[in-house]
Amino acid sequence: GSVAAVLPAGGSGERLGAARPKQFCALQGRPLVSHTACALERISWISDIIVVVSLEHIETMKSIIQKYGHKRITVVEGGVTRHRSIFNGLKIFAENKLQKPEVVIIHDAVRPFVEEDILLKVVKAAKDHGAAGAIRPLVSTVIASSADGCLDHSLERARYRASEMPQAFLFDIIYQAYHQCNDYDLDYGTECLHLALKYCKTKAKLIEGSPDLWKVTYKRDLYAAESIIKDNLS
Ligand code: CTP
Ligand code: MG
Repeated sequence: GSVAAVLPAGGSGERLGAARPKQFCALQGRPLVSHTACALERISWISDIIVVVSLEHIETMKSIIQKYGHKRITVVEGGVTRHRSIFNGLKIFAENKLQKPEVVIIHDAVRPFVEEDILLKVVKAAKDHGAAGAIRPLVSTVIASSADGCLDHSLERARYRASEMPQAFLFDIIYQAYHQCNDYDLDYGTECLHLALKYCKTKAKLIEGSPDLWKVTYKRDLYAAESIIKDNLS
């Protein structure tokens, strides 16, 4: 069956704090979102790539597609939260504007170093289980504070994982999950795998990913990404 990808790129990049959203910051002369899109376009078995951006950046994205010669991207208007942006991306297929894929990959536009091996793994696991996502060991221990701002309890670090991207889903499962979930899920929920689990009772397979899957979040991440891209180009 066919595989498509949705790249949420509709955020404003507040933690990074640049003049423009981080996905449009240039690294070695090319916007971050274009680097990520290239990583997916190199993979022949991915058909359509949906890039979801806020209304005010639709023209920016269209000119990036023109300038850098992207061939498989469709631009879709985002929403006020990441979940709403992803849902808008999925609707394009549900409304038959593009051919509905069997499996959809969801990957943040700000994680440029995604490789074919992890994409193959999450797609295969999605076909077998319904949903799958990349995970990483925790860097820091997770703690909870009590009302007085002091330590309440801490989690045993080795027993937990950080949820990363990419994730993959049978299209019908993730679309149903978004269709059935409520406004609270769309506005405050953080985990697509969890929505699939909660609303579609699917299994969500967890796949150990590489450290290269980190997300550009703070300014230092932009510098790190730029130096990796520079090394890869030389
Ligand atoms: N995203 C989106 N629509 C939103 C919010 C976020 O498509 N309404 C996207 C971002 O563009 C990014 C991905 O989801 O590619 C991961 O989100 P995050 O790292 O939180 O990006 P921002 O929300 O832009 O950054 P910040 O939270 O620091 O403002
Ligand atoms: Mg955010």
